[in-house]
Amino acid sequence: MARTFFVGGNFKMNGSKESIKTIVAGLNEASLPSDVEVVIAPPAPYLQYAAELVTAPTVTVAAQNSFDKLSGAYTGEIAVNQILDVGAKWVILGHSERRTILKETDEFIASKTDVALANGLGVILCIGETLDERNAGTTLDVVNTQMDAVIAKISDWSKVVVAYEPVWAIGTGLAATPEDAEKVHAAIREHFAAKVGAEAAAALRIIYGGSVNGKNAATFNACENIDGYLVGGASLKPEFIDIVKSRE
Ligand code: PGA
Repeated sequence: MARTFFVGGNFKMNGSKESIKTIVAGLNEASLPSDVEVVIAPPAPYLQYAAELVTAPTVTVAAQNSFDKLSGAYTGEIAVNQILDVGAKWVILGHSERRTILKETDEFIASKTDVALANGLGVILCIGETLDERNAGTTLDVVNTQMDAVIAKISDWSKVVVAYEPVWAIGTGLAATPEDAEKVHAAIREHFAAKVGAEAAAALRIIYGGSVNGKNAATFNACENIDGYLVGGASLKPEFIDIVKSRE
């Protein structure tokens, strides 16, 4: 089954109206491939601004977080329906920076995923092991446990994109090798097939994140189980367009 290639740009807590305008203009003016889905995730204050600036037909906007309640006394949190209301279509959940800095648990991330999907947002679900976990040989245990928490909570995976992001590769300039990443992606898909079913597994997009840039993106082209990228630092630069075009 053909899986539509997916490139996400996670701006993290970076940018301003001016820089976001420049990035979106670059995407609007580039001749982007029609068969690559592009999703940009600016900081929450700029979601509506970015969504209104986008004219490229293959580009949509994601929030970087959402809460697992739809309204109420939750100071500082962002509701799924509010994200949709300002024109964004996706949310990034489970990013390692939120797992480690904000102490988000697998269960909380599963609950947020459930609420996001049930109310109409697509979810970019991030999973990945730390360097210690990798060195201890527990990579697959870690990512499968992170997946299992969500598998226990949701049944329809058609609007989920899984982002495998080894924590040691994020922002370090040390991307996983295509061989290493492909092995983990294949194992994630196999585990998912055993738990959820072969058909859902064949359709599930599993993208790689961690120091992807304009130069190394194409080195993953032969990896059967890598269906795109989640890009941090390089998504703020013109080379993001090279990444979107890296399969051409
Ligand atoms: P990076 O970040 O591309 O800067 O390594 C990726 C991510 O955190 O999603």
